[in-house]
Amino acid sequence: MLNWDNPLASFSGQPNTIAPPTQEVNPVVEKIEHDSNTMRISMQPVRADDKRVINGSTDINQLAPFKYPWAWEFFLNANRNHWTPLDISMSRDLHDYQHRLTLEEKHVYENVLSYLTTSDILAMRNIGLAVMEKMTAPELQIYQARQVFEEALHTWTYQHCIESIGLDQGEIYNRYRVVPEINQKIQLANKKINSVLRTDINLKNKDDLEDFVMSYQFFAGIFEGCWFYNGFSPIFALQRRGLMTGTAEQLQYIMRDEVLHCSFGIRTVNQIILENNVKLDPKAISDMWQEAEAAESQYAHYILRDPILGYCAEDHIEQFRYIANRRAKQLKQEAPFPGAENRLGWLDEQANLRKEKNFFETTVTEYQTGGALEWG
Ligand SMILES: [Fe+2]
Ligand SMILES: [Fe+2]
Repeated sequence: MLNWDNPLASFSGQPNTIAPPTQEVNPVVEKIEHDSNTMRISMQPVRADDKRVINGSTDINQLAPFKYPWAWEFFLNANRNHWTPLDISMSRDLHDYQHRLTLEEKHVYENVLSYLTTSDILAMRNIGLAVMEKMTAPELQIYQARQVFEEALHTWTYQHCIESIGLDQGEIYNRYRVVPEINQKIQLANKKINSVLRTDINLKNKDDLEDFVMSYQFFAGIFEGCWFYNGFSPIFALQRRGLMTGTAEQLQYIMRDEVLHCSFGIRTVNQIILENNVKLDPKAISDMWQEAEAAESQYAHYILRDPILGYCAEDHIEQFRYIANRRAKQLKQEAPFPGAENRLGWLDEQANLRKEKNFFETTVTEYQTGGALEWG
């Protein structure tokens, strides 16, 4: 079964340590030679030890030697999850929505999709516009390029679900703008992305660097690591009862991407902190978790203002706290919610596609795209 906290557990790569740069300045750039109207760049080799996640000065266009082989492993594994929303039948979901869901369950389903449709666009913009351009090692950028595509695919998936069920797209897509409990989660993310998506940001400046690290860890640890996880669980609760199983299967595919996004993001943030000796303000970190919990709590009380069979707001919120503690540990932080319980013990099993049991151990050639997905 997929290990949610360490999806590449079988990969033996160790965390990168820091070797001192061999030269004060980029040996390639330093040796640019002016030759009348053209510039010739030195062919001096790139040393893996000289690479940095950010603020590096080695040749960004040269993939190897790898300093971060784990990033390349993430890219290879991400490419094993090939699918499109058209591969999964939604016909039973249409019937379920029209004839089997209660009003309370429809409220949950619609609002979960309403939140997710907007949040994946934010996730795409964060990686593609705010994060990727700041990376100075190509093996990191290449995985992030794949992630940008995956976020777009997720947006298509939600759109396909909304269209298949026959929901009013204009109303669903606008809902995050008029429902405060959905809007505030999006605005929290907007605030973070706007703090680092500016042309004058300079990661050699201490304050700017800390802003960037705080924002990236928010997106990896909370936005993807907790809020997507929590975002899907009400649909998996319906799936457990045989309801909306097409939508749930779509989310299972998305979940496998998101597990990698979260894990990759946290590992990258930890590496930035290590390489740049970043000291984050403990109060700022604590405030971030508390703010996220408050937003998730209000969201839960809105989507689950009336509980549905087997799922209620209190379980949802406690599960957020439980997952938040796991993410904080991965980020080498204190548990923000000591003693939080795993209220949804069934979630990990439910979120796994049962068609295959060893997704991350199989090879690329065993996968196929389109048509029926056979995972062996
Ligand atoms: Fe996504
Ligand atoms: Fe993601």
